Amino acid sequence: MTATLRADLLSDTLTKPTDAMRRAMADAEVGDDVFGEDPTVNALEEEVAGLLGHEAGLFTPTGSMANQLGLRLHVAPGQELVCDSLAHVVRAELGAAAVFSAITSRTWVSQRGRLDAQQPLDLMVTGAGAYQVNTALVVVENTHNFGGGTVQSLDEVRRLRAATQEVGVRMHLDGARLWNAHVASGDALDDWGREFDTVSVCLSKGLGAPVGSVLVSSRERIAEARIWRKRYGGGMRQVGILAAAGRHALAHHVERLAEDHARAKRAAAVFAEAAPGCLDPDTVETNILVMDVGVAGWRAADLVAAALEQGVRIYAVGPSAVRLVWHLDVDDAGTDAAIDVVGSLLGEGPKGD
Ligand SMILES: Cc1ncc(COP(=O)(O)O)c(C=O)c1O
Repeated sequence: MTATLRADLLSDTLTKPTDAMRRAMADAEVGDDVFGEDPTVNALEEEVAGLLGHEAGLFTPTGSMANQLGLRLHVAPGQELVCDSLAHVVRAELGAAAVFSAITSRTWVSQRGRLDAQQPLDLMVTGAGAYQVNTALVVVENTHNFGGGTVQSLDEVRRLRAATQEVGVRMHLDGARLWNAHVASGDALDDWGREFDTVSVCLSKGLGAPVGSVLVSSRERIAEARIWRKRYGGGMRQVGILAAAGRHALAHHVERLAEDHARAKRAAAVFAEAAPGCLDPDTVETNILVMDVGVAGWRAADLVAAALEQGVRIYAVGPSAVRLVWHLDVDDAGTDAAIDVVGSLLGEGPKGD
C-alpha cells in the first residue's frame, strides 16, 4: 500500500490555489470574454503583453493552446518549424502542429535542451522553391522542461534572432517557465520577449494558478489568434475568475520561485553525493532536477515506485532517468522528505530478488 504523501514532486502543474488566490478569484470582476468584455481578462492580457514587451496578449486555457496558436500564425500548411528534439511542442503536444495546422517539424539534438544558435541555423532551409520544405519558424523553449529546467542564454538567442531575421524566418518562444528563467538569470522578461515574434507563458506551473496561459505578439497577430482560439473551442466566457488567479500569481509568486530553485539545488548536491555520476549539481539551474539513476543500479520505474511507497512522488522520464520538480506546494519539510527518501534509495541501490 502507498504511504501518505509527504512530498509531491511529480510536476509544478500540481499546485492548488492558495487562500489569497481563491479570494482574488472570488472577488474578480467578470464579463463575457468572447465579446472582449471581461475586465479582469483584459487587464491580464495587457499586463503580460507589457511585461514581455509586446503589443497585445491572449488568454488561453492551456500552454499547449497558446503554443499552437503561436505556431500557426507563422507557418503555412506544408512549411516547417524547427526545434530541438526534446521540445514540448514536438514531444508533448500530441502532434497538434501537424493535426491542426498541417505543419511539418524537424529537430536538432541538444545537450539538456540548451540552445546553440548554430544548430537551427544549420538545419534551416530557406528559399527552397518547389523542392525542399521551407523553414518558416524556429521554436525555442526557456526554461527547457525535458532538458531539466535549463536556462537559455540571451546572447545565443540574439545571435539566432539576427541570423533568422536576415532570411525572414520567425521565432516563437515556449516560455511556459520563462518566469523561472527570469528569476534564475536576472534577465529582464521584456529583453527576452522582444527577441521573439510570439511568446507563450504559463500561469499554471510554478506560479500556482489553477489554469491559464497567455500568448503575446503584435496587435494584428493576436487579433488573428483570437479567431483561431474560438475556432479551436477555446473562447471562454466569464473567465475573469481564472484570470484573477493569474494576476494574483504574477503579483505574489514570481520572486518566490528562487525558493524552489534553492530547494532543487540542495537536493541535487545530496543526490550527487549519494550516487556519484547521477547528475552534475551545477546543471540544476531552476526548479527541475533530472538524474540518471542507472548509475546506482536502479531502473527509473522501480525507484519511482520505491519512493512512492515511502510517500515521495517523483516521475520516470526515461528508462533510467528520473525527474523531480519543485513548486509552491513543496516546502522545506517536503524537500527534506524527498532528500531523505530518494537519497537513501540511491545510496542503498535496489534490493536484490
Ligand atoms: C515547456 C512547456 N510548454 C508547454 C506546456 C503546455 O502546458 P499545458 O499543460 O498547460 O498545455 C508545458 C506543460 O508542462 C511545458 O512544460
